Amino acid sequence: MKPYVYITRKLPEETIKDLTELFDVKMWDHEDIPAPREVILKEAQKASALITMLSDKVDEEVLSGESLKVVANLAVGFDNIDLEAATKRGMIVTNTPDVLTETTADLTFSLLMASARRIVEAAEYIKAGKWGGWSPYLLAGHDVYGKTIGIVGMGKIGEAVARRSKGFGMEILYHNRSRKHDAEKELGAVYSSFENLVAKSDFVVSLAPLTPETRNLFTADVFAKMKKSAIFINAGRGPVVDEQALYDALKNGEIAAAGLDVFEKEPISADHPLLELPNVTAIPHIGSASTETRTTMIKLCGANVKAVLTGDSPMTIVNKEVLQ
Ligand code: DGY
Repeated sequence: MKPYVYITRKLPEETIKDLTELFDVKMWDHEDIPAPREVILKEAQKASALITMLSDKVDEEVLSGESLKVVANLAVGFDNIDLEAATKRGMIVTNTPDVLTETTADLTFSLLMASARRIVEAAEYIKAGKWGGWSPYLLAGHDVYGKTIGIVGMGKIGEAVARRSKGFGMEILYHNRSRKHDAEKELGAVYSSFENLVAKSDFVVSLAPLTPETRNLFTADVFAKMKKSAIFINAGRGPVVDEQALYDALKNGEIAAAGLDVFEKEPISADHPLLELPNVTAIPHIGSASTETRTTMIKLCGANVKAVLTGDSPMTIVNKEVLQ
């Protein structure tokens, strides 16, 4: 019997060809609806491998499948997976780093520029037929060139955002668990305490992964320490922000604007309070969503599954200790 692989989202057949040739593969088959938890739980009991999405909660119950050897998550982040439980069971968890770095940095910088120059607001304004004529301060935003960016979470995506910032003549501050000496040398990025970064930056950009240390990192106190002209960008994970505190800071003019690709609970609905605010540019978690990159990410998940099920080492394992 061929090993059974379950994929929790409908993916183009051609992207998983390598898997279907070797294994018994089944995919959740609704285009726009995610697989319900009951389905994932049932499939996980039979599967040797799961390809999961960042929106799937992969906890102990899902990981209890007797034959499950590998969970390949279609994301660089893996906060949706109980890594400790997987590791305890000797199960391999893989993610998709590197292949999405530049794409996600492009999106992060686009969000920064769109927020600074009020692009979405301006596009809505013109479509609503509100443009009565040119006027000096019509939809005037904030400059990007020459300003200070503070990057919280200087992983590969953070560094790629820093490279873009250098092209815009920006001063670069960063805060991270470890120092990034190459970025300091090559880009002039300056390591900063979190407090100094939030106080000095014109753009505070969060790319921090979600961990117990980063959950609720951006509180009311933190927003109060930012410049009144600061623009907050979050393209990492939603729960690093206290959303009520962000709403209050934006509403009360403690900060100027926010660009958000991620939210505390996704998806958000159209009546989410943050969406009422004109100074919020909100997009639905599309950091790595270019067609090219998503295809590469899917293929990387497939290659990781294939490697594990054929006895090879996966390319991008998260919990290396299970291989020892
Ligand atoms: C990830 O892969 O973790 C990012 O959120 C991509 O959008």
